[in-house]
Amino acid sequence: MPSTTHRILITEPIPEKAIDFLKQHGEVTVGEKGTYQNQEHLIRDIKGYDALLCMLSNPVNKRVLEAADRLKIVANFAVGYDNIDVETAHELGIKVANTPDVLTEACGDYAMGLLMALSRKFNEAEAYLREGNFTGWEPLGFLGMELRNKTLGIIGMGRIGQAFARRARAFGMQIKYHNRSRINPEIEKELEATYIADHYELARQSDVLSLNCPLTEETHHLVDRNLLEIMPEHALLVNISRGAVIDEAELAKALKEEVIVGAALDVFENEPEVNPELLKTPNTLLLPHIASATHETREAIGMLAAQAIADILEGKLASEVPNLIRP
Ligand code: DGY
Repeated sequence: MPSTTHRILITEPIPEKAIDFLKQHGEVTVGEKGTYQNQEHLIRDIKGYDALLCMLSNPVNKRVLEAADRLKIVANFAVGYDNIDVETAHELGIKVANTPDVLTEACGDYAMGLLMALSRKFNEAEAYLREGNFTGWEPLGFLGMELRNKTLGIIGMGRIGQAFARRARAFGMQIKYHNRSRINPEIEKELEATYIADHYELARQSDVLSLNCPLTEETHHLVDRNLLEIMPEHALLVNISRGAVIDEAELAKALKEEVIVGAALDVFENEPEVNPELLKTPNTLLLPHIASATHETREAIGMLAAQAIADILEGKLASEVPNLIRP
């Protein structure tokens, strides 16, 4: 234990390796699953902690940050950090870290898996079998969409969008994308990816539209009724970014009215609640936010978040901590 004992709050159990590592850097408290999804609990408990290792389900907002009295760093156990009021944290001199890179491949695999399952109706067909309805091979049963020669439109061509694109290329898909700015021309060339400046135009040209952008004011409800209506009738939608990028009420309506064929959603606007209208749509694959859920990746996420905490508590310069969010 160091001479000045730092106090570290980890809001939920995370892989042991990261907890053990942090124990070498201070006194660690691990919260119970779900407790700190409630901001009042964070406000109540944050006093006296030097570091917070939080989940994407913890609202680290202005009230929480202002309730802290000696907090030096908030490290999010996720790449997305829309749950943290980064501006307020920086105003209060609190560093914020996230976990880029280490989850890219797990998320790329998962997005590809969602698309395969959705386009070939895995969940509907499995439910049909489990319910005892399989009475023999059918020439017209569960016909899906082949991926080869189809266009995958990606909104948000960061690391995870590119990882998905790489996999989709191996399935013979054409890649088009929309991003805040064009990606590195070498990567564009490698992926034979076409940049489309207008996301509505990208939606019009996509057989599959994938959301891989962060949730910001600009991307909130970016998938609205207008965009859904622009998509081809046979189109599929995949979302592993954040639920609020989609207007879920409009998506549920569009799926029922067969404006598009189906959607695979890993994320929801009001997690852990899921819009009941979405639960009623059969052509939808709904999963509980598990894109990065592999043993290897979750351990790597934990270690990266823990390392940022150790670095800051030991007085390293911000410029020496690669995964800090810059002001
Ligand atoms: C993240 O880390 O932000 C993702 O939501 C993982 O699925």
